[in-house]
Amino acid sequence: MLIAQLSDPHVCAPGLLYKGVADSNRLLSDAIRHLQQLDRQPDLVLITGDLTDEGRPQEYSMFRELIGALALPHLLMPGNHDHRENFRQAFAEVDYLPKQGALHFCIDDHPIRIVALDSCQPGKHHGFVDDEGLRWLDQTLSQNRHKPTLVAIHHPPFKSGINYIDDYRLFDAQPLEAIIRSYDNIEAVVCGHVHRAIFRRWAGTVVAACPSTCTEIALRLNPAATGASFMGPTACLLHLWEPTTGMVSHLSHIGRYPGPYSFF
Ligand SMILES: [Fe+2]
Ligand SMILES: [Fe+2]
Repeated sequence: MLIAQLSDPHVCAPGLLYKGVADSNRLLSDAIRHLQQLDRQPDLVLITGDLTDEGRPQEYSMFRELIGALALPHLLMPGNHDHRENFRQAFAEVDYLPKQGALHFCIDDHPIRIVALDSCQPGKHHGFVDDEGLRWLDQTLSQNRHKPTLVAIHHPPFKSGINYIDDYRLFDAQPLEAIIRSYDNIEAVVCGHVHRAIFRRWAGTVVAACPSTCTEIALRLNPAATGASFMGPTACLLHLWEPTTGMVSHLSHIGRYPGPYSFF
């Protein structure tokens, strides 16, 4: 099974630019085209939050229009730039989204079980999973301890060393870590939010943060660094799972680059 992960498209109202500089809407279209031109078509596309920049109904309409071009099954989860109720309303016909409360869901129709945990607190930009969310996660994971599972959480639950994004990480991650650690069938935890590819060992599994389809957060590891982002090569993650090999995750750059050259 091949799962493509896009993240943080930050779709804006028609004609507006993200941060006044990036055409996030066109960049999402570029990402969709990229997926559809891959030599192996993903079985599923997972979009890990910040679908819109300000969570406005007009932005969700724009998102729906853009995502209409994606002829592959896809799953949508919210990020801190989304608005929970506007998100729910915009995708009212989507049957995996709960009709009230946090937007957690589990999809069990594929060889990989997808468990999406809503780490957003309305009105806040950092992540946090409350007791109800932790209970939901534990209960959901306990329903199948053997099937390979991918857990998706918008906010990475660790410090990256980039101080200005660490201020907005998932806070109080210890109870979450304890739950994840108690299951040995979690192939990976996949996140978005940090607009950059970051990987780490955590809770007995691997956490992979996916780049944004839009801008890239500056890699400034000096503790005194001030925040910035750049227009960089955008990318997505491709999580390839086979029964015999387990899951392998690839970074796939979006856009055209010189080549192909001879392999030898
Ligand atoms: Fe984002
Ligand atoms: Fe975010």
